Amino acid sequence: MHLDSTGKLSLDHIYAEPDPRAYFRTLRAFDYHLPQLAKPYLAKLIDERGTPTVLDVGCSYGVNAALYRCDTTMDALYAHYATEEATRLDRAGLIERDRALVRSRDVRFVGLDVSAPALEYAHAAGFLDEAIHADLEQDAPTEQQSAVLAEADLVISTGCIGYVTERTIGRLADLPGGRRPSMAHFVLRMFSYEPVADALAGLGYDTVAVAGVFRQRRFASTEERERILDALRTAGVEPHELETEGWLCAELFLSQPTETVETRGQA
Ligand SMILES: C[S@@+](CC[C@H](N)C(=O)[O-])C[C@H]1O[C@@H](n2cnc3c(N)ncnc32)[C@H](O)[C@@H]1O
Repeated sequence: MHLDSTGKLSLDHIYAEPDPRAYFRTLRAFDYHLPQLAKPYLAKLIDERGTPTVLDVGCSYGVNAALYRCDTTMDALYAHYATEEATRLDRAGLIERDRALVRSRDVRFVGLDVSAPALEYAHAAGFLDEAIHADLEQDAPTEQQSAVLAEADLVISTGCIGYVTERTIGRLADLPGGRRPSMAHFVLRMFSYEPVADALAGLGYDTVAVAGVFRQRRFASTEERERILDALRTAGVEPHELETEGWLCAELFLSQPTETVETRGQA
């Protein structure tokens, strides 16, 4: 198993497949269930906003949208993609089967990712209404992308901060014609949210950390566990007992605009 420079298992290949079978097969083995733990928090934020446009940063195959729209669970999705039928079907057959899972479309979901195949699948399966293929770490969004991203009322992410930084999140909070979206990011504890919170503070946002830690997945090996525990200590973060017991953990940060676009313009 190859660990990346942060000490974390490198899973890049599972995000580059034409369908999500490798994603679910691989992550099931590590008990990945952060999107399941995130779901009630995201559902509450969505409900408080009526029928918002939700932008999922680093959405991959649209799992957060699928959990919400299909009213399902990670366990059910793991089983769904592991059946004999799922193994036999081609991509078009899988898409047709997934489209039949979608129960509600009142909330609009936009996904942003660097993986074109993952986005294409999520869009074709009906999990996402719009898919934006862009790397905002490197480039500003095109005018067309910017217009879609600016419609977001709520920006969410699960396990993407670290891959994306204050560059991407700052851009999303400061789009021409943007709505100053609220944000909810589940961030691995080995990555600091502080640079993102600082950038957002400069744009009129307040950030709070939600109490508690969220189990993202089990460590893939003893070596990964040791590397991550070392990375936490180096970052000045005392490992939580869940981490020493074998879980890679995340925290939830909520960033809210305290100023409207109009009042900020007057400052
Ligand atoms: C750890 S995965 C999390 C996927 C998904 N949110 C989930 O919970 O299963 C990180 C995702 O971030 C995407 N990603 C990496 N760099 C990115 C970037 N610069 N901009 C947008 N997405 C990026 C990857 O393609 C991948 O889909």
